[in-house]
Formats: sequence, C-alpha cells, structure tokens
Amino acid sequence: MHEPLRGAVGTAHAKTILLGEHAVVYGRPAIAFPVASLTLEARAESIGSGLALHTPFHAGAITAEDDAAATREEHIAAVAVRRTLERIGRPLDGVGVSVTGLIPAARGLGSSAAVASAIAVAVAGLHGIALTPADRFEIVQSVERVAHGTPSGLDAYATTAAGPIWFEQGRARTLAVAESPALLVADTGVLGRTGVAVAEVRARHERNPHAIEAAMEGIADLVVGAREDLASAAFADLGERMNACHGVLSSIGVSSTELDALVQAARRAGALGAKLTGGGQGGCIIALAPSASELPALAAALTASGATGVWFVTDGEENA
Ligand code: MEV
Repeated sequence: MHEPLRGAVGTAHAKTILLGEHAVVYGRPAIAFPVASLTLEARAESIGSGLALHTPFHAGAITAEDDAAATREEHIAAVAVRRTLERIGRPLDGVGVSVTGLIPAARGLGSSAAVASAIAVAVAGLHGIALTPADRFEIVQSVERVAHGTPSGLDAYATTAAGPIWFEQGRARTLAVAESPALLVADTGVLGRTGVAVAEVRARHERNPHAIEAAMEGIADLVVGAREDLASAAFADLGERMNACHGVLSSIGVSSTELDALVQAARRAGALGAKLTGGGQGGCIIALAPSASELPALAAALTASGATGVWFVTDGEENA
C-alpha cells in the first residue's frame, strides 16, 4: 500500500548574473546572485485523473496538444511536471500543480529555471520523494534545454542558491563576499529570449571565432577580478568591471537601445557600475549603488528613465 498523496510545496527565486553571461556558455566562469524579493511557489496535489496546471499564465489540464499550442511559459511549466514524473518513475497522471508568485519571463531573471525547479520539488514531494540536488538539477536542465537550447546550467543552480555563487564548467559553489554589494535589477520591459541571443552569439562565433573568443576571454578576466573585489568589498573596482563588461557584451551583439539607455541612466544617477544581465537583447540591467542607502534613489531614477520594474537584489541581509 502506498501512502495517500498529500499536497507538497516547492519554492525558487529569480537570479541575476553579476558578470559572466554568454562567456559561461563557452566554459568561462560567472557570478550570480539570488534576487530575494522575486520568488515563486509551486504547490502539487493529488487530483482524480490527468495532469492539471494553474499558473498566472495558464489554468486547465495539461494535454499533449499543449506542447504545440501553449504559450512558452505554459509549455515550460507543463514540461517540468512531466519531466519530474518521468525522472521519479511515477505515472503521468493524478497530479495538479499551482504556481503562485511571478518572476517576469524573458527578462534574464531565470524565470524558466525557477518555475521548473519549484515544480520539480513540489511534484516529487507529493510522491514522498525529496529530490537530490543532482536530480533537481537534471530535471531543471532538461526543461531549460526546451526553453533555451544549450543552457550552461548556471540558472539551474542560481535560482535555488541561498547566496551568491561562482559557477564554472557545470559546477557551482558558494562565493564569499566581505560585504553585500548594493545591487538592483531594472527591467526595460522588452522581452529578451535567451535562446535566441545565445544562438546569435554562436553564429557570430562560427563566423569570427578569434574575435568572439577574445571577447569571452575578456569577460572571464573581469569575472576573476570581480571575485577579488567581492572578497575585499572593493566596490569602485567592481563597478568599473561591470561597465567594461557591458561594453564587451555590446560588442558581441546582445545589448539593445533600451538596455543601453537604462545603463546610462544608472551611471548618471551615481551607480558605480551598470550592465545588462542575463541573455540580453531585452530584459534587465544590473546596477551597483555606492551603498544600500542609495538604492532607493537609484531605483527612482531608473523608474523615471522608463524602467518597468526595479527589484533590490539583496533584502538588506548579509549574503556571506
Ligand atoms: C543565462 O541566464 C545567461 C546565458 O549565459 C545563457 C546560459 O548561461 O545558459 C546567456
């Protein structure tokens, strides 16, 4: 006799890449922070039959047709339910999943990985299974492949990590910071599809391998330097590296007029550094204020310059 199935919950949060996006797809390191103020929760429960999904973007049964007809976000959540059940060897039947809280999709904030991760924990939990970190990672990565094509794996870790991480060659570890940097992310409101941006960079890499490799090496140098800046709270140096990184990312074609405008607005408003974050071509910037007390003024300046959303990266707690 199996235990009767009860409800189970999984949570995840948004992430922001401080430095290293795109280069991380080519084996270079990256640094990511959780965005504590942007979380979501998935709740799984037993239902009579079939699979059902209730999210801010979908309500109803998950059917095979959803794979072709659904919106991208709906599709990602449905794939996550199925991949989890397959991974834990349970029937694709009798499970209802609700997702609450919303991480804006296609903004470089890791929403697809967070949705998949929260769903994986909830669905496995419903069956009395506590996923190992490796199983959770594999499920999220398999969903990320559907969402983005060739994910580095950074988002799969960063959307569940409690603090900043150093990610390199498929492995993540906790990153020591002397003092929390005063970071915020600001949204251009323009969709940026990571899969599209990564594919375009790959095409440029094929056409101009030496130039794009040089750009990736340049980003890697900045990431290594940033690790030292964070260990010693050298925030002016960190800001300079963020600014330099935005220039390199622009040179490989992943910035946009809207991203450049917010980056400039952040610098004008006194940010020590600002750059796009995530896949780019839309989505968010990340900016470093001189101190936590200066974050609200920076946020106000970015909102006045057209940002459609601003989130503080840390909630005032120390990350170290
Ligand atoms: C992901 O948030 C950002 C990219 O580096 C892609 C990846 O790491 O898979 C552009």
